[in-house]
Amino acid sequence: MKKTKKSASAKSAGKSKGSKKSWHGRLTAEADAQTAKLLASLDVDTALWRYDIAGSVAHARMLCEEDVLTKAEFAKIKKGLLAVAAAIEAGKLDMPIELEDIHMVIESALIRRVGAVGGKLHTGRSRNDQISLDLRLWARDAVDNLIDRITELQQAFVQLAGQYGTIVFPAYTHLQRAQPIVAGHGLLAYVEMLQRDAERLADARKRINICPLGSGAVAGTSLPLNRARTAELLGFPEITRNSIDATGDRDFLSELCFCCATLGVHLSRWAEDWIIYSTTEFSLLKLHDAYCTSSSMMPQKKNADTLELIRGKSAGAIAQLVGMLTLTKALPMAYDRDLQDDKRFAFAAVDTVSQAMAVAPGIVATARFNEAQIAADIDKGFLDATALAEYLVDKGIPFRKAHGIVGRIVARAEKQGLSLAELPLAQLQKTCKQIDTDVARHLGPANVVKRYAPEGAGGAKQLARQLAFWKRKLK
Ligand code: ARG
Repeated sequence: MKKTKKSASAKSAGKSKGSKKSWHGRLTAEADAQTAKLLASLDVDTALWRYDIAGSVAHARMLCEEDVLTKAEFAKIKKGLLAVAAAIEAGKLDMPIELEDIHMVIESALIRRVGAVGGKLHTGRSRNDQISLDLRLWARDAVDNLIDRITELQQAFVQLAGQYGTIVFPAYTHLQRAQPIVAGHGLLAYVEMLQRDAERLADARKRINICPLGSGAVAGTSLPLNRARTAELLGFPEITRNSIDATGDRDFLSELCFCCATLGVHLSRWAEDWIIYSTTEFSLLKLHDAYCTSSSMMPQKKNADTLELIRGKSAGAIAQLVGMLTLTKALPMAYDRDLQDDKRFAFAAVDTVSQAMAVAPGIVATARFNEAQIAADIDKGFLDATALAEYLVDKGIPFRKAHGIVGRIVARAEKQGLSLAELPLAQLQKTCKQIDTDVARHLGPANVVKRYAPEGAGGAKQLARQLAFWKRKLK
């Protein structure tokens, strides 16, 4: 590069004695401290070091098998990489930010240890396919961890449903009392949502689990790489087909963020339900003290802070998804340095939901239903009104008409402060002659949950079948 007049900041640059960069042949000036800080991603990508080492060992082994490296060179490089790994593990590796990222830190540490032969590691490779590889390896583990956490949480819900499942419980729509269910049915609704979250992650994993190594910077390489072999060594069932796409796209991370955001949203709905259920007003649920906090001023307080934080964490997960999509929107193909910040979004998305998932199973496992209070309140809110309309349907009355009749009956009962079961038969018959003594078997929430007919409804029969299904599935 022709020497040009140095700018003010460039003048102060180049002072730090951080290790030489790989492109010192091309660029003569070094970044000043602020620029080095902007360029660096070590504060986040150090977390990828294990994957980076594993990828490098596999790459070097393949190069050796293809006779690009001699056996002795490969042995030296591998030994050096393992020594670098040990130093990182022990927190003893110097990581000057001038080296920008974990890839350069590891490579320069390798060269320091094994000498010039270390410079052969990067043969046929670019940081562009290297980072895509590291991220895919990381994302694969992240998915597997999240799926395990989801299974634990599902098991906690299933366990609780086994314990309290048959309590007759109010189901809400619009947060207004709607129809009676058995409590286990409500718990298994969360298990269903979580199952889709797990399946979504497993599906995203298919697109994560593809090996990009060999794509180089953008167009591949003229060197004889055996891509299938590197993929095999790293446990990838497939290799990417297009080097531009493989180095330039991050949709596998967007998908992962979306999975986290959706999981976060599901957790927030559960958390919100249980915050409400544990209020004095609802009194449906008691949370264990270990998951609550009190107030610095009000001595009586028992606040569901862990659930509130879990509810809040979903905001972070959603924000990371939006960040990830925004980062990649309209980026020219293929790799652009903007992509370096992908890690900030993806790591944060996974961290945020992982924090919530680490605590959620304990909250569920230790929660207790307020059986007495639930029973005392279960006749409030006319939960059996729909069942009464269906009783009339049984008597041959068109549903729309039955709906109107029961509406009038409810209004009458409400005026008198009675439940439908408490209304004298004569009064029921005043509104509809077809109502008979057999109506008693249809009224009252406990009777209603016994009658639910179709699969998937909120009754005890269905719950027993579904519990058996989940116990088998989550084993
Ligand atoms: N630290 C970079 C990142 O995370 C690695 C790839 C750098 N590639 C480049 N052409 N500058 O994206």
